[in-house]
Amino acid sequence: MPPADYRIEPLTVARSGRHSNSHQSYSCAVWDTSPACESGAMATPAPMPIKLLQSLTAGFFSTIRRIYDASADWIDDRPRLAAWFQHPAAPGSAYRTHNGRMFADYHEQERMLADQPRMNFYHAAISRYIHPGDRVIDLGTGTGILAAFAARQGADKVYALDHSAIIKDAQILATDNQVEAVEFVATHSTAFTGIEPVDVILHEQMGDGLFDEDMVANVTDLRDRLLKPGGRIIPSNFEFYCEPVKIHDHRCVPFIWELNVHGYDYSALDRHRPQESSYYQMTSCDQNLVECFLGQPTPVLTMDLHTIEESALPHEIVFSRTILRSGRLDGFAIYFRTSVDVDLSLSSNPIDPQRAPHWGFRILRTEQAEFTQGDEIRITLTVGQWPDSDTWRWRYEKLPAA
Ligand SMILES: C[S@@+](CC[C@H](N)C(=O)[O-])C[C@H]1O[C@@H](n2cnc3c(N)ncnc32)[C@H](O)[C@@H]1O
Repeated sequence: MPPADYRIEPLTVARSGRHSNSHQSYSCAVWDTSPACESGAMATPAPMPIKLLQSLTAGFFSTIRRIYDASADWIDDRPRLAAWFQHPAAPGSAYRTHNGRMFADYHEQERMLADQPRMNFYHAAISRYIHPGDRVIDLGTGTGILAAFAARQGADKVYALDHSAIIKDAQILATDNQVEAVEFVATHSTAFTGIEPVDVILHEQMGDGLFDEDMVANVTDLRDRLLKPGGRIIPSNFEFYCEPVKIHDHRCVPFIWELNVHGYDYSALDRHRPQESSYYQMTSCDQNLVECFLGQPTPVLTMDLHTIEESALPHEIVFSRTILRSGRLDGFAIYFRTSVDVDLSLSSNPIDPQRAPHWGFRILRTEQAEFTQGDEIRITLTVGQWPDSDTWRWRYEKLPAA
């Protein structure tokens, strides 16, 4: 039977901690599957004035919501303006709201759940490292999938936390799948308290740039308050990469002032370089974007969540690469790798065919420069706040081969 009612709604996904294919607005049909419609029963029509009032009210709130959704990140980026909209007593609250909203979206969940390397990694890691009788916190349970894996391993109790409305769906799914050892708690993890310390903290809090979803702050907060001495964090070992790359010629997009299109020269725009740091970065999931690394990839930062303190993360990293493959430098690729064993890891490496495909990798753009095998490149990455890549700056020096 055709649906009794559908409407076309624009879906807009704002800046995310991980790359979304749905950055552009698009339309989708929203089906009304209320029992009355499914059974074909006719609802009693509301008198006209009420309907009109309903429609005007709905239109008003929908407009307010769209304006808010469209401007929330823009406001976040302007602290002086944000002070008019956000209570100073709640630092980070705008990001939390954004994060909670983003993960309430089924498409975000679909992309993560359909990412086979991701799901295989977590399934294997939980099978190996969660034991019968364990008490577990699943930090950011989403649809509850990792909590369910842990429960199926025989965990005695899993506290599944989430600050997003998606937790209601997680509860429905657990009941439907007869998962009983899980207690769902609708909360931000920093407000979760009142239990005995647990054996395991399970989490998936990695953003495209590893740190964007406040992984280090969220996990270490729970670790310090609610993990038993000697307890496990899954996953805990991380490598962060920043590698000079060449982008495939047909996919390469230089800065506008570098362009000359059939003799039409854009170099005059050199004097009008944009000031927004977001212009100098791009994020992609596309495995056909990066042609090669110019040097040998090596992590520029490694950490173990069992021991790291957020305050100990460096604010400047200086490192060098010897150029192994002559070619053009287009930027530095930011990606991560996490492992729980020598044979069990997960990576967002832009040219690894086994990469977890739903994560984006980030390109910190540079002006194009040619490098020859044997040249040395010395790169400096400075970081204001790790979770906010708009506070990152990068520069490099070229040291020609002797
Ligand atoms: C990347 S999703 C992972 C979902 C699920 N664990 C999975 O693997 O499919 C991260 C989830 O963590 C939630 N989240 C992020 N930070 C949180 C926090 N500090 N406290 C509670 N939930 C959080 C988000 O709402 C989101 O549902």
